[in-house]
Amino acid sequence: MTLASAAHNLVRQPEVVTASSITHVRPQDIPVRAFATQGQPTAVLGVGVCLPDRVLTNAELEQMVETTDGWIVERTGIRERRMAPPGTASWELGAAAGREALAAAGVEPEEVDLVMVASSSPDAPFPSMACRVQESLGLANAWAFDLLAACTGLLYEVAVADAMIASGRCRTALVIGAEVLSRILDWSDRSTCVLLGDAAGALVVGTPQRGGGIRSWCLGADGRLWNLLTYGQRADKGAYAVGDTEARFRMNGRETYLFAVDNFARQAEAVLAAAGLGVGDVDLFVPHQANRRIIEAAARRVGFSMDQVMVNIERFGNTSTATIPLALRDAADQGRLQPGDRVLLASFGAGLTWAACLLEWE
Ligand code: ACO
Repeated sequence: MTLASAAHNLVRQPEVVTASSITHVRPQDIPVRAFATQGQPTAVLGVGVCLPDRVLTNAELEQMVETTDGWIVERTGIRERRMAPPGTASWELGAAAGREALAAAGVEPEEVDLVMVASSSPDAPFPSMACRVQESLGLANAWAFDLLAACTGLLYEVAVADAMIASGRCRTALVIGAEVLSRILDWSDRSTCVLLGDAAGALVVGTPQRGGGIRSWCLGADGRLWNLLTYGQRADKGAYAVGDTEARFRMNGRETYLFAVDNFARQAEAVLAAAGLGVGDVDLFVPHQANRRIIEAAARRVGFSMDQVMVNIERFGNTSTATIPLALRDAADQGRLQPGDRVLLASFGAGLTWAACLLEWE
């Protein structure tokens, strides 16, 4: 068989593996492990965000697909989301958020040793978005790479930065989550297009001066559940391999929902146990903003009262890798983040992947 005919067979491969093909893995059978941090402490020193101006309301979505504002608000908590202008690159939003985070932290561009960009809507296989950000912000001393872990990408980046700083290989890292999800949505699929929005968020991660820092981590992935959230219908080999130029965001919402509630709750318990803390010790739980009902159900299961929980999904929808910086920024603006506060960050995403950490706010 020639290479050309092998490629042709691959492209013509008849099997359709959709995001609705259910893998029978019970959430409670997925191991969740946590550990306390060691070495040089690491803290969040600055937060930055970039939000496109254009607001897309539920009322507008009612004109586009068969849905209602009432359904969207009741099932998800989302009232509006942002849309980037056509042609916007994810890295452009990421660079703007990164610039704001550096200013907030009082860190000069040349002090950044490492820049990472995570995205569920990356611009291209290469060059990396991180290299575009590096050039754009003048991060002359930084090494740079992209990280793919869907919505968990931002916390995975923080985990990498934490390990680099703790081991003395790096002093300051800029971690970014940047999304133009509007360009990968199927705008005729009401079960997904109402959920997501465009935005970027960034954190400067470095050495604390006031005693704050990350105390424990829970990091995990379970590839058996790869088909709950996919890019395209024939995603078993990936959209590129099967020549799927029409690939769009696909999701098994029900199974993802069940996984997410269980995973949030078990991560929270594991990461608190690893830090030697209890639910009452947490000042603010900042979960990935995928669905208000997921957040409320997980909070109930762990035993958090809703005044310990940050929710801002109503204004931005699910912005994947950007939700946690957006939530931290809003929490700070509302006076809900003070030095010394114990903050629990938690996320989950396609892969499936998940991450949570317990930190003391610097
Ligand atoms: N408007 C009106 N009706 C709708 C809409 C809509 N926008 N979307 C779905 N429906 C209908 C369905 O067709 C279904 O109708 P049927 O009963 O006639 O078949 C009915 O509503 C119920 O559908 P369900 O999917 O059971 O609704 P559910 O209550 O589960 O809510 C939702 C759906 C909001 C998607 C929920 O399952 C969810 O939040 N899942 C998790 C999503 C998530 O966290 N995704 C992370 C992805 S991001 C990432 O990783 C990059």
